[in-house]
Amino acid sequence: MEVILAKKAGFCFGVQRAIDMVYDEANESNKNIYTYGPIIHNEEVVSDLESKGVKAINFDERELKDLSDCTVVIRSHGVAKNIYDDLESKNVSVVDATCPFVKKIHEIVQAESEDGKTIIIVGSEYHPEVQGIKGWVKGDAFIVDEEADARGLDIDKETPVCIVSQTTYNPQKFAKLVEIIREKGYDSNVVNTICNATNERQTEAKEIAKKVDAMIVIGGKNSSNTQKLYEICKNECENTYYIQTAKDLDFDEVRKYDKIGITAGASTPKNIIEEVHTECQR
Ligand code: F3S
Repeated sequence: MEVILAKKAGFCFGVQRAIDMVYDEANESNKNIYTYGPIIHNEEVVSDLESKGVKAINFDERELKDLSDCTVVIRSHGVAKNIYDDLESKNVSVVDATCPFVKKIHEIVQAESEDGKTIIIVGSEYHPEVQGIKGWVKGDAFIVDEEADARGLDIDKETPVCIVSQTTYNPQKFAKLVEIIREKGYDSNVVNTICNATNERQTEAKEIAKKVDAMIVIGGKNSSNTQKLYEICKNECENTYYIQTAKDLDFDEVRKYDKIGITAGASTPKNIIEEVHTECQR
């Protein structure tokens, strides 16, 4: 029997890097450690970190005020500039685990807005990453998520605009929104800042599902990127299983197949993927 484990299964580079940074900090530091919001939407990881003394807190201003002599880890989504300024003004060490691809967007919007351009962020207004990006813009930023938002933009035509995107945005939707903005006649500089991690994970899953007899997709029931992975695999391979952990699968049934593929959604920890992989090979 052959088992093919997707190389891009599970955490993307930026999330893995952030998690490693928190664990390193927890192992090396004696200070109280907080993550600025949950490091990832996975309860198992968050509670394992809690057992090591790392607390996930959604800081409001009052909580920020009370902080001192501790370490705060900024997660991969990044945060607005004023949050760094607030933290710096206290006796707080900052571990910046902002994904380098997100950090790059902060640098772009900061430089372009300082250069007099109006910034348009294509993304969901309440997504923490978008809030963070907005917080690096000098002056106003416009957030566009729907075609109506793009059509309704009312920016002075004399001012050049710079358009960036939330890293996890749908590429087709981004292209459509950019087209609408351009048709309005703005002098626009478009920087496509969509990250390839999701696309690469999906493309690889599809390729594997095409050539196996059974495909296992691991991820949370409510994880939309895992559901999408499942749909893609199910289209290529009738025997596709959607599981949350190894406990959900009858391995005797799966081992009957000659060729099995495994992939996992973006918030599935490595140990769960490895357990399923090992069980398949028993
Ligand atoms: Fe992940 Fe960073 Fe891309 S957090 S999805 S690698 S932008």
